[in-house]
Amino acid sequence: MSEMHLTVLYYSTGLHPASWRLPHSHIDEVGDIDFQVKIAQLAEKGKLDAFFLGDGQYISGEETGHISYYFEPITVLAALSRETQYIGLISTISSTFYEPYLAARMLSSLQQLSQGRIGANIVTSQFDAEAHNFSMNHLPPLEQRYARADEFVTVMKKLWNSFTTEAIINDRDKGEGLDSQYIHPIQHNGDSFKVDGAINIPTSANDRPLLFQAGTSLPGRALAAKHVEAIFSIAWNRQDAQDFRADIHHRAESEQRRPPLVLPGLTVYVDETYEQAAQLKAQLDDFIPLAKRRMQLSKALGKDISDWDLDARVPQLPDYSKLTRKVTRSLYEAIKRACEEEELSLRQLLDRFGTWVGHKTIVGTPEQVAQEMIDWYETDACDGFMLMPPTYPESFEKFVDLVIPILQERGYFRKMYSEHTLKGHLNREVLD
Ligand SMILES: Cc1cc2nc3c(=O)[nH]c(=O)nc-3n(C[C@H](O)[C@H](O)[C@H](O)COP(=O)(O)O)c2cc1C
Repeated sequence: MSEMHLTVLYYSTGLHPASWRLPHSHIDEVGDIDFQVKIAQLAEKGKLDAFFLGDGQYISGEETGHISYYFEPITVLAALSRETQYIGLISTISSTFYEPYLAARMLSSLQQLSQGRIGANIVTSQFDAEAHNFSMNHLPPLEQRYARADEFVTVMKKLWNSFTTEAIINDRDKGEGLDSQYIHPIQHNGDSFKVDGAINIPTSANDRPLLFQAGTSLPGRALAAKHVEAIFSIAWNRQDAQDFRADIHHRAESEQRRPPLVLPGLTVYVDETYEQAAQLKAQLDDFIPLAKRRMQLSKALGKDISDWDLDARVPQLPDYSKLTRKVTRSLYEAIKRACEEEELSLRQLLDRFGTWVGHKTIVGTPEQVAQEMIDWYETDACDGFMLMPPTYPESFEKFVDLVIPILQERGYFRKMYSEHTLKGHLNREVLD
């Protein structure tokens, strides 16, 4: 039987936007690196494939009420690489704001610091507020951002092949440190980037950092199928997840590549009893009044919904192409599909706006949680999950202590690490 892949997304005091408001929350520790070290070590105790950092380039307090992103993620991974031994370490990198030479160099440095445990999650960023911090008046349109992302990854891959470890000879007698036949300036001259030289840190082609992608739009999928080893996706329900994974497999086949692993986000509320698990969810959701959720939903749909009846079925939503106001396409389509397939009432839909919008949530006993995860895995809905614990560290501790042992006992998850690298954990070859 094959085993699922599990990675965990770290964000502030948890992935529930109100987690920081709980009386015992660790909000005062998010600026203390020891807090993240503790969580990465907990992930390693659970034998997870990787610890994953999202990122944003602005203060997101307006939406969540608190600071949210704190440390710059590449910097954090340097620290974590010294405090962990096995677990993969993944940083989000924006291809809209970074230069590929700089990104490839930072990632290669980390790859060596961590002895092969690094991954980069390529995103194109989401908000004008971020663009304003990078000399732009607004974020470029999606297609343009993904065209740049494609070239960004292409350049990084060329760089990772441009200066291999054989080049370093350090012949003291002859006074020759480098063998130039192993150094190949890439001379890239494209629409977004001009990069002349080779990278200045040696990499072997097989030891390049692994690539992830997060984004579900069509150009996002094209990028993923062409370039990456794994995808952090969104799926509210199993059918969505199955369709998305099948589409990625189809696209990867056209690219003649092995399909990337598909890991949908998953928020788990787990406890000894269902009631205890549900109690935490209710306690957190209560911080987000219905009026605020209505507002969030209105924003996501690009439409005022204040007069919709809470207990009636959500009305038929128009196709994305018919919308006049600009909204996030992947989120809009996920909402539309879920409303149609699950026949949701407005109240049920708003219930999902308590946690991070758009991701799968399971509330239950350890057995119930493990079984639902296995059901998804067994029905080709995913290759594993990106765990998004609602509170840190408590919800994640519960998952590691209560759910992981069941997955291990049933043969769905490793009991020990058999590899030391991220490539090894994810069972991927990096051939391009
Ligand atoms: C599951 C998921 C996680 C994401 N995480 C981030 C992130 O941490 N930082 C970021 O700037 N963008 C993030 N994005 C958005 C990407 O920037 C993406 O390139 C952009 O919003 C376009 O998304 P789309 O392809 O889904 O339309 C994420 C998207 C998804 C679907």
